[in-house]
This record gives sequence, structure tokens and C-alpha cells, in this order.
Amino acid sequence: TSNQMWGGRFAAGPDAIMEAINASITFDKRMAAQDIAGSRAHAAMLAATGIVSDSDAEAMREGLITVLSEIEGGDFTFSAALEDIHMNVEARLKEIVGPAAGRLHTGRSRNDQVATDFRLWVRDQLDAADGALVALMRALVAQAEAGADWVMPGFTHLQTAQPVTWGHHMMAYVEMFGRDLSRVRDARARMNECPLGAAALAGTSFPIDREMTAQALGFDRPCANSLDAVSDRDFALEFLGTASICAMHLSRFAEELVIWSSAQFRFVALSDRFSTGSSIMPQKKNPDAAELIRAKVGRIFGANVALMMVMKGLPLAYSKDMQEDKEQVFDAADNLMLALAAMEGMVRDMAAQKANLEAAAGSGFSTATDLADWLVRVLDMPFREAHHVTGSLVARAEAKGCDLPDLSLDEMQQVHGEIDASVYDVLGVHNSVASRTSYGGTAPEQVRAQVARWKERLG
Ligand code: ARG
Repeated sequence: TSNQMWGGRFAAGPDAIMEAINASITFDKRMAAQDIAGSRAHAAMLAATGIVSDSDAEAMREGLITVLSEIEGGDFTFSAALEDIHMNVEARLKEIVGPAAGRLHTGRSRNDQVATDFRLWVRDQLDAADGALVALMRALVAQAEAGADWVMPGFTHLQTAQPVTWGHHMMAYVEMFGRDLSRVRDARARMNECPLGAAALAGTSFPIDREMTAQALGFDRPCANSLDAVSDRDFALEFLGTASICAMHLSRFAEELVIWSSAQFRFVALSDRFSTGSSIMPQKKNPDAAELIRAKVGRIFGANVALMMVMKGLPLAYSKDMQEDKEQVFDAADNLMLALAAMEGMVRDMAAQKANLEAAAGSGFSTATDLADWLVRVLDMPFREAHHVTGSLVARAEAKGCDLPDLSLDEMQQVHGEIDASVYDVLGVHNSVASRTSYGGTAPEQVRAQVARWKERLG
């Protein structure tokens, strides 16, 4: 039998394979609430503009409420023959309210309908990401505040570079997630225009009120060009791009947590709640949540690339290719939210190992730069020469198998005669970090200033 929505010009129904490739209901049913919200706004507008009668609009309104409660209650039968959420809802509406349902699609197409539903769905995800990022940042700020003056090694090339503070390291991630948050908010502001009423592609001859539907659905304004409105998926791509950058940050942090929780580092102890054991090795406590966050990022990047590939080269306006947008975004959103929540939990629970951090901070000649700076400041040595002298001292310590502060003054003076005992003041890691007082530096006072700024911004 031919299709009940557009069967007028069809003599035969679709092949089973056609139905399988064409139907999107298995996944776009996730937009049921958005679809019904869009339809309710459209129905109310149709009545307000006199395009349908008040009684028909009222029947649609009540019917749509019933359909939504059926879907939410799990007693709705989705049909692949009805392709997608839009037609499933409309067909059920017709069963409930009769002929009035047939007037709902006046001045509307599935093209503007799906674009509207999907925007509403993505907008909800941006709002959820906003909240999840704020929660994660609060957890990081709490860690930073607790350990604003705890010392740890700072790395470049994952080789010991200079001592930094634990709080400083935590606040670096707050900056990253803060940029993600601002990208989320920018994306939301930019995408908040309503496609509804663009109809198939050209607009409609019915005297619709697009301002009214836009406002009812919480959009700032209607999309200005009907062709663009139905063919634009920038909002989904911006979500995926924003999610990708955020996921990249999550992955970097996850990688650090994997390294830090290893027996060789012991910088942090992850909680039991966010770790797993081994079925064979009794001693194991594995950072699986961090590893899975690191891995899930691949799916989010994949979704971003996949949708870029779907959209590139599509002529205006709507093409069915665009139906492939939703699964990518759904999967990326689900995994981003999970990763953000898992990271927040891990950060809240993790215990920085202060003594281990401090011991590590002093190893690897981490204060060599402080020593070179001392030679410049106290002996007025050119920095290049100071670098060379310090290098010789490091070589001595290395040969002796000790750290820089363990060299005697005598040994130091053999390398450079003018070095005096006050040099030892700058070789300690606490003095080292305390001296880095430049704006945004690692000194505890600067870290506390960062914490205070973010606490105010995060409320
Ligand atoms: N299920 C479709 C999608 O997700 C809805 C739009 C269908 N429009 C059309 N012209 N066939 O894109």
C-alpha cells in the first residue's frame, strides 16, 4: 500500500530495503518532545492568524499532549513505515483527534520541522554542557584552592622543567574549560533562530506569524532566509566542534590522570568510586574512567568529521543526506555528557599526594633555571653564561647521583668561584614557586588570585 502522508501520486509502497535505508524513527524518536513542542507552537500560531479554527487548534493541542504522554509513558508504537518522528506523531494525532490533525501541516514542511526540532534538541545539549562544564570547573577550583601552595614538577616534553604548584596546574584546566564554556554560550547565542515557517524551502503563502512561533519556542528571532533555514546545520557542527575541543581538553587531563595515578608517579590517588580492579591481579586499581574519557573523544571527533563530510557539497536546500546529522550529534552529545560527568566525579574524589608531589618537584634538577637566574641577578652574569655554568653544576650533580641542593659550596665554587651560600635559597622548590609572581605565574599568591577570579565568575 502506498504511503498515507504522500501516497497520492504513488501506486506502490516502498521496498523493504527502501524502508530500512529511509526510516529514521529508530533514532529521531529522541526528538519527540521537541517535535511536539514545535507542533504545539505551530498549531497555536495557525489559530492566532486565523489559518485554522480555534476548535481545530484546541483539538490539536490536546491531542499533542496525549501523544507526548503516550511516548513518555512508553505506550506508543513507533512505526518504521511512517519513517520518522514527525510522521509518527502526526499519524497518531490523526487517530486521536481525527480530521483536525490534517490541518496541522498547513504552511509547514518536514524540512523546517526537522530543522526546528533538531535545533531545540541541540540547544538543550548546549545548556546541559554549560551546566556540566560549570560543575567540573567548580571541582577543579576546589582542588586548586586546597593545594594552591603544594609544589609539584612542571613538565615540558614530559621531562622535569620547573616546579609549579598543584593549584596552578588545576587552574590551567579551568582556563581551558572556561574557553569551552564561552564557546558553548557563543554557539547557543548564534544558533538561537527559528527555522519554523521556512516550510519546504521557499516560505509559504499562508499568512503565518514566524515571530510568534519563534518566541513560543524560546528563539530570539526567526531565521531570515527560508532556503538557509532548512539547509543549515551549522548549529550541529558548532556543537560538534565545540564538543571536540572540549573533549580534547578532557582527553589531555585524562591522560595526566592515568600517568599520575601510576605506581611510578603516585601524584594522585583516584577514588574507588572511579576505579576498577583486575580479575587476575589483586593489587590493581585501574583508572578506567580516565581511559574511557580519553577514548570517547575519538567518537566525538569522528562525529564532527562525519557531519562535515555529509554537509560538504550539498546543494541548497534540503537533501535527505541531512538525515544523517542526528545519530552523530546524539552519540557525541551522550558521550560528551558522560565524559564531563565522569571527569567531574574523578576530580571531586581524587586525592593529590602532597608529599609525593613535593618529593618529585625537587628531583630532576627542577630548580636549575632558578640557579641560572641567581647567577644573573647576584653575579651580574649574562644569561647565556649562567646557563652554561648551571649546566656544568647539573652535570656534576648527575655524576654524583645527587640533586643540585646536595652539592657542597666547595663543589659549586670549583665550577664558579664567586658562588656563595645564598645560592641555596633559590634551590628549594618552595622558594622557586614563590618567586614566580608575574601575572598568571605559579606563585601561590597568583594561584589564589586565579581562584578568586574564577569563583566570582562561576558564582
Ligand atoms: N527524517 C527527515 C530528516 O531527518 C525529516 C525531513 C524529511 N524531509 C524530506 N524532504 N524528506 O531529515
